[in-house]
Amino acid sequence: MKKICPSILSADFSKLADEIKDVESAGADIIHCDIMDGHFVPNISFGPDIVAKVNEITNLPLDVHLMIDDADRFIGNFADAGADFISVHYENNIHLNRLINKIKSFNVKAGVVLNPASPVCLLNDIIEYVDFVLLMSVNPGFGGQKFIQNSFDKIHVLKKMIKEKNLSCQIEIDGGVGLENIKSLSVAGVNMFVCGASIFKSKDRKTVISKMKDLLAIAV
Ligand code: DX5
Ligand code: ZN
Repeated sequence: MKKICPSILSADFSKLADEIKDVESAGADIIHCDIMDGHFVPNISFGPDIVAKVNEITNLPLDVHLMIDDADRFIGNFADAGADFISVHYENNIHLNRLINKIKSFNVKAGVVLNPASPVCLLNDIIEYVDFVLLMSVNPGFGGQKFIQNSFDKIHVLKKMIKEKNLSCQIEIDGGVGLENIKSLSVAGVNMFVCGASIFKSKDRKTVISKMKDLLAIAV
């Protein structure tokens, strides 16, 4: 089942509860929470207290994307805040196997994230331990950026790796995803689609999400 995951990074934070309820009633499947520390990425967003509030507002699963250094220190806080999925970057986590096991120990689905310039082959010795792989299709830090086209090549390589190893790991894509590319991404093998600006900056979120779902339904 393919999932639409609006990223609240592009929501209006002065009325966050209404924004979340709006995308929930518009058909969103998962709420994506982007956590940024101003070190690993050049932006600061929000932390576990806000995620806990988001969890009070919605019944949808929460997908927490950690763009922070020293992620290990905060896994418990995000799990307690209600995260259903937690992903950590390959690039800044030295003890990745231990970190993935730690996420799973909280009964949370564990994912690894690759930046646009990090090749899929880096996942060779971790992929069998993760529930999902998040491929960044923009440089992390900001919403509303342009999709980086070679992400399609990376999806193909990742799909092949998953097949060859006979794994059931899901593929998530994050950055510059919208009506113009969601169908091709789905055909390429993506299961989870993070959409910030394409949903939150649109006036009619319901129409956008239902068009996305129509495109996913015909994508084979
Ligand atoms: C970027 C974040 C994304 C971002 C996507 O660092 O990880 O989740 O919100 O936003 P759009 O869909 O606008 O590119
Ligand atoms: Zn994200």
